[in-house]
Amino acid sequence: MTQQSRLDQNPTAPVPASSASSAAGAGVVPQFVDPPADRPRRRYAIAGTGHRAGMYVGALTGEHADVGELVAWLDLNPARIAYHDGQAGSALGLDGPAGLPQYGPDQLEQLIAEQRVDVVIVTTVDRTHAELVDRALRAGADVIVEKPLTTSVEGCQRITKAVAETGRDVVVTFNYRYAPRNSSLREVIASGAIGDVTSVHFEWVLDTVHGADYFRRWHREKTNSGGLLVHKASHHFDLVNWWLDDTPVKVYASGALRFYGDKNAADRGLTDRPERGTGNPDPFSIDLAADPRLNALYLQAEQHDGYRRDLDPFAAGITIEDNMAAVVDYRGGATLTYSLNAHSPWEGYKVSVNGTAGRAELTVVERGHIELDADGNVVLDPSAGSERASTGSTRPEGDRLIVQRHWQPAEEVAIPSGIGGHGGGDAILLKDLFRRDLRVGEDPLRRAADYLDGLKAVSVGIAANESIADGRAIVIEDLALGF
Ligand SMILES: NC(=O)c1ccc[n+]([C@@H]2O[C@H](COP(=O)([O-])OP(=O)(O)OC[C@H]3O[C@@H](n4cnc5c(N)ncnc54)[C@H](O)[C@@H]3O)[C@@H](O)[C@H]2O)c1
Repeated sequence: MTQQSRLDQNPTAPVPASSASSAAGAGVVPQFVDPPADRPRRRYAIAGTGHRAGMYVGALTGEHADVGELVAWLDLNPARIAYHDGQAGSALGLDGPAGLPQYGPDQLEQLIAEQRVDVVIVTTVDRTHAELVDRALRAGADVIVEKPLTTSVEGCQRITKAVAETGRDVVVTFNYRYAPRNSSLREVIASGAIGDVTSVHFEWVLDTVHGADYFRRWHREKTNSGGLLVHKASHHFDLVNWWLDDTPVKVYASGALRFYGDKNAADRGLTDRPERGTGNPDPFSIDLAADPRLNALYLQAEQHDGYRRDLDPFAAGITIEDNMAAVVDYRGGATLTYSLNAHSPWEGYKVSVNGTAGRAELTVVERGHIELDADGNVVLDPSAGSERASTGSTRPEGDRLIVQRHWQPAEEVAIPSGIGGHGGGDAILLKDLFRRDLRVGEDPLRRAADYLDGLKAVSVGIAANESIADGRAIVIEDLALGF
């Protein structure tokens, strides 16, 4: 399998067309003043030095190094720490690794005290977020935490209590909000063009490269990730909460593992699969040895913790769903119908928002199809970027926002260009994260997400998991999540 190293998102995810754009649309990127020359930089530690940490390492040793300083690492795997320490050293122009102090998971409090840490960035396995957020707050640091904020009822309660008792700051990095197409839909709804929202229909499809990746890694166990209704869909539920500026109150969900996993594979005659992808390439596998970054972060790190990132998605042991649907009632009266599929031939999403004055429709194709090379192996994003969007295929990559008011013809709303990955969201998110206090004016889109937004987003997935387990609709308030 051909790999492309990218720091911003999962290496199997499609590269958004807008990531090739260097000039951002006016109004998309917030304006910031320069920091005062004598202002001390904020001191950051990274907990969880896997793939996602790379985006923050790059930011704090690059564009945002004037306002923030990376001062320590925390992980249980020394090889992954060493990889990022090397990256930081070279980004800072040093002859070798940065040589930052390293700590284990039990030493978070010691790290915060010894290194005088202002903010802990939590990029660990989802299951560990609540504990690390709680401990960091109580040890005197603020927190930036990757989505999902947590995976369980207990995690929600723990974080809510810690925030209430410490008064400290928790930011959840919902980068999808910053993708210009998603911001544009919020603007359309907030403008009143379609009236009051009565319902939303939201379909997200992950393709057999990116989708399969959740069934190879730690995500495949529900105890680690909460399943895709928490791990992945917390992005999507956050978008709906934010688009509607509303709160979800009741969830009914259904879902199952119908494509990946050993039983489904056997039913379709897929037998004798190799245990892992490395050394055994095929369209459903990932070869860690083929990419220097994946090799260093995972293959060469296995000796320390035994974690294998390239398991066969058709092996036993998967406890998450690959087909999911949910109906969510909102306090303001709207209903969301949502579905997520993880084995589609293309990747992207479609959102339709019905209102009392009309309807808005956002269609996004992130990867139109998966290309195989002559040996039958996947070619990841052969011509990533905006060129790919104009290849004239039946399913061209790109995004389209259409608004149609009652008794009017449909109109296309222009979506401004973004910068960076995730549909142009990550680079803007990083500016907002590290230069928040230097921002000129308020963000009319209110894109920065706090822990309450993080809790609301996971509340839908946690309730959906409960609903799948016992077949009932779940009233979110009854879960006593603590907020
Ligand atoms: N916003 C996005 O678009 C986006 C994209 C990718 C990942 N993420 C999130 O980032 C987080 C990390 O994902 P990843 O892809 O980097 O995973 P990863 O497996 O590459 O990295 C996770 C790291 O956490 C470490 N770890 C596990 N348990 C730990 C503990 N108790 N204490 C300290 N470290 C521990 C592992 O050793 C590993 O280095 C996840 O929560 C994921 O949801 C978000």
